[in-house]
Amino acid sequence: MKRALGVCYYPEHWPQDMWAQDAANMGAAGITWVRIGEFAWSRIEPKPGVFDWDWLDQAIDVLAQAGLKIVLGTPSATPPRWMLDQFPDMLAVDERDQPRKFGSRRHYCHSHIGYRDAAAAMAAKMGARYGHDPRIAAWQIDNEYGCHDTVISYSDAARVAFRNWLAQKYQSTSALNRAWGNVFWSMEYDTFDQIDLPNLTVTQANPSHEMAFRRFSSDQVVAWNAAQVAALRPLTDAPLIHNYMGRVLDFDHFAVARDLDIASWDSYPIGFLSDRLEGTPEHKARYLQQGDPDMQAFHHDLYRAMNAGRWWVMEQQPGPVNWAPYNPAPLPGMVRLWSWEAFAHGAEVVSYFRWRQAPIAQEQMHAGLMRPDDVAAPGLGECTAVAQEMAQMPEVQNAQSPVALIFDYASDWAWKVLPQGADFDYFRLIFEAYRALRRQGLSVDILPPDCSGLSGYQLVLAPGLATMPQSLIDAMAQTTAPCLIGPRSNCVTDELSIPLPMGPALPGLDTTVARVESLPPGTSRAVEGGGTLVHWAEDVTGTADTLFKGNDGATIVAAHNNLHYLAGWPDDALWDRIILTLAQKTDLILTPLPDGLRLRDTATHRFVFNYNPGPVQWQGHEIAAAGVKWWPL
Ligand code: GAL
Repeated sequence: MKRALGVCYYPEHWPQDMWAQDAANMGAAGITWVRIGEFAWSRIEPKPGVFDWDWLDQAIDVLAQAGLKIVLGTPSATPPRWMLDQFPDMLAVDERDQPRKFGSRRHYCHSHIGYRDAAAAMAAKMGARYGHDPRIAAWQIDNEYGCHDTVISYSDAARVAFRNWLAQKYQSTSALNRAWGNVFWSMEYDTFDQIDLPNLTVTQANPSHEMAFRRFSSDQVVAWNAAQVAALRPLTDAPLIHNYMGRVLDFDHFAVARDLDIASWDSYPIGFLSDRLEGTPEHKARYLQQGDPDMQAFHHDLYRAMNAGRWWVMEQQPGPVNWAPYNPAPLPGMVRLWSWEAFAHGAEVVSYFRWRQAPIAQEQMHAGLMRPDDVAAPGLGECTAVAQEMAQMPEVQNAQSPVALIFDYASDWAWKVLPQGADFDYFRLIFEAYRALRRQGLSVDILPPDCSGLSGYQLVLAPGLATMPQSLIDAMAQTTAPCLIGPRSNCVTDELSIPLPMGPALPGLDTTVARVESLPPGTSRAVEGGGTLVHWAEDVTGTADTLFKGNDGATIVAAHNNLHYLAGWPDDALWDRIILTLAQKTDLILTPLPDGLRLRDTATHRFVFNYNPGPVQWQGHEIAAAGVKWWPL
């Protein structure tokens, strides 16, 4: 696997006489890939049907002459203002039925066929011009689906498309009424045209209705992406990529990835810590300038699962961002650390966002590798250092990790629709499990719920997996590795209703969840031997063995052979005990780590990352603040 560095560049923001020097400077910094074009629609097609390719041709020329490989973006995340004159109803509509206005980006509804076709036509135009141009070495389709809350739309276009989707799925309203339980509150329909989108109802809409709408909305993103794939595929052999955004879960990324060649994601560690992660004030203060020690790794492992292991970081934070509530600068060393961490998890390319800070518009406060006045910013030195180290460090190959963690987008939708307790968030649950594994020095593979098998894994976790596919149930029956499911695993149908027999209903594990409770902040249930349940507790019945017990005698972990059911949401101390107990049932080696130190094992090397603001001594090594070390395994 060849590693490389890249950068995001916007030639349309800068005078043309700067391009050649920019390209030369990129090369001098060790950058070999450059992404361009993804927001440039108004310059490519300034008026409907009037195209200006000259500037793009010249930009491609200049960049390629400096030896850079180009990722060309399709500009569909930023339809120009004239597009709205053509399609006034193309805007997404929010939950209050208000259209979201022009004036930033992602101002479109995925269900609007007119705009979907226009975007695919633009992709085809670009493909016709550059598809066989060897300087275009990859394509990015659109930009960050779902970012800025743009999957769910209550537009007229969505309503029409939803009715069609329902008619196809259920064939008759009587089947739909049965599946959704519409007899409850006299919600039965006679025709598909009577069915509205599930917003602005007097009280909660039927969860089955909402879940169907969630599934539909995800399918619309898949179809939207597929339209551009269909336009580009016949015109190019270069790989097609999308750049997903961290903790954006409203659509199924595995499903989008099936139409693409390489997965990529946009990594903003300090922005994420401030903006989209739970954590105590102490945790947020400690990692203020480093980001959470597990957030980046989690997404690296997630995207490695999508396209047979081919994935990139398309955008890497290079300095302070502009969009979080607070925007501290990375500690010296962190840009290097994040870059090496991505490579250690198998990234082919790490591409910094952006080359030069733009002095204009929304992101004028967002750092680049260069300052707006064209002086190097601190990120550039670290990028150059990584490039030099890459030349010395042999390529590393991925190895299968000892642990598998199942991740399922539909479970996030299920628990958003039916949380039953304000703190039951699927990502948070999965992420706490992931962290607990990493505290023990474990490398983790994230797998989709319909993964092809579990062979080679020594431990498998699937917390919160709302509905388990039969193939996963079979795979868990076939492996001897300890498998842990729960809380809330296999306890609802696809339609989001309670199955009979009640869950988890795993063959061989006689355990039934008889009652669930959600626990408000500040309350917990103590567990014998240490640790507590927080947020969520379940009462289970059945003949399975009890492995962990509450102080009140309640079963916390039930077990039979390799199958384990976790009847609640563990705090960190309980997660540590559970993982230790499961590891002892197999030959999994745990390497408990000091706070903020993280490991990643490749086929040949062990990498150690220090997310702490100070040095750490570990196993005879001193790892500097924001430091990275590696050695052969
Ligand atoms: C990403 C986006 C980029 C830029 C960046 C700023 O979400 O793809 O275009 O806005 O954030 O951090």
